[in-house]
This record gives sequence, C-alpha cells and structure tokens, in this order.
Amino acid sequence: MTEPFRKTSESAVPAKDRLMVALDCPGDEALDMARSLSGHVRWLKVGMTLFYERGPDVVKRLSGEGFDVFLDLKLHDIPHQVQGAASRVAALGAKMLTVHAAGGAEMLKAALAGSREGAEQVGVSPPAVIAVTVLTSLSEADLSAVGLTSPAAVLVERLATLARDAGLAGVVCSPHEAAVVRGALGGSALVVTPGVRPAGFDSQDQSRVATPASAIRAGASHIVVGRPITGARTPVDVVHRIISEMEGES
Ligand code: C5P
Repeated sequence: MTEPFRKTSESAVPAKDRLMVALDCPGDEALDMARSLSGHVRWLKVGMTLFYERGPDVVKRLSGEGFDVFLDLKLHDIPHQVQGAASRVAALGAKMLTVHAAGGAEMLKAALAGSREGAEQVGVSPPAVIAVTVLTSLSEADLSAVGLTSPAAVLVERLATLARDAGLAGVVCSPHEAAVVRGALGGSALVVTPGVRPAGFDSQDQSRVATPASAIRAGASHIVVGRPITGARTPVDVVHRIISEMEGES
C-alpha cells in the first residue's frame, strides 16, 4: 500500500491543501460550517468533542462530502489498545490521526500497524499517523511537576525523533518549534502546527501564536486554524485570506 503523505517536496503541496480547519463547535454548527466550506478547503480537523458528540459517523459523513478528515483523538494507551483504535479510525476513512509520542516506540509502531490493517480491511489508503510531542498548553513548570525536567524544546526534538524512528509520517507542534522539528525530521515529514492566527486576529487563549506565513516559513507542512474561521461572519473570506498569506511563502 502506498504512503500518500510521504511527499518529496513541501512546495509541491498547494496552499489550499495545507490548511486544516478545526471544527470545534457543536455538532449541527460543525456540519453547517463544513457545508459552507465545501470546495474551499480540503482538510477538516475533528477533535474529541465533536467525535464524542457525533460518533464515528461524523467522519464518514464529512469524508462522504469530499473532505479529508484529520481525526485528532491523541491516542495514548497500551500498544494493543492503540493498535485496535487506529485500525477502527483507518476503517472509517480518516486521512490523518494523532497519537501521543510519549506512549513510546512500541505504541507508535502499534498505531502504524493498526492503521494499515484497518485501511486494508476496507480497501482504502492508510491514514497518516502523526505524533503529538509536548502539548503547548504545558509550561516548563508543568513539565517539571510530572518529572520532565529537560527544556520543552529538547523534549519536542526527542519525541519527534522517536516518532520518526517508529515510522510515523510526522508530528504536531507549535509553529515556534516547527524549525527545530523540521531540522530534525527532514524535508519529507509532516509538521502540523496549530496556534496560527492570520495577521490582525485575536490570539484568544493561544499563548504563542504565529501567522500562516511565518508558520510555513518555519517549516510547517500544514497549519490548523479553528476559531478565526469558524467564528467569522464570512468564514470563506478568512479561508481565502489564509491561503493567500501562505501562497506568498510557498
Ligand atoms: O481555534 P483555534 O485555531 O485556536 O484551534 C486550534 C486547534 O488546534 C484546536 O482544535 C486545538 O485543540 C488544537 N491544538 C492546539 N494546540 C495544541 C494541539 C492542538 O491548539 N498543542
């Protein structure tokens, strides 16, 4: 089975395909939003809230409407469980899936194996499995409180390398870590960055934001943007503004 996400050159990916819209709104609103974005974006990110509200059908439904679904469930459990969960996610037709790199090499390999098994069962391409390194919500003090005493940047690089060595397609990280991660993983890895705000937008509860252009410049292959789009009066206009900001950097 081919690995559709192992691309040879970042610049070969059109800016429209680098934007992932986070549908962090109640179910009906999320589905209406998806409909209004049809034809304007390729990727929608479904997180835990929407998934737990609407269940697996939401992935099938959005995929059926022509979107690529990034299912951000951040799996973290014993390898056997994660293998089973990744297999079911793949069989739903999700195109991207997250796991916590801190689950360790065996868990990461199990996620990859499960995603391939599930995809094969239904005859689709396996999703890209990418790893969450260090949650950007954790401060150095939070990390130290759970026994992680290295600086966050060191942990991020270490976990990104672990994910790469386990065969994963890439990682999720802050735009501020994208350059370090890109340097560690090389040009073909997926580097997916949330915490992105178009110039002039409120950062809301994101503590360290970057613009679409600066995230791409730092090495992001994809950016995740939620509320600046889903909370806008004219979401499609914001989508096009973000895409054109990225086009300046491709
Ligand atoms: O609305 P906003 O653009 O801030 O949404 C960002 C999305 O990225 C949310 O779905 C959030 O859960 C996710 N995310 C994040 N920071 C991380 C990991 C994921 O903001 N470190």
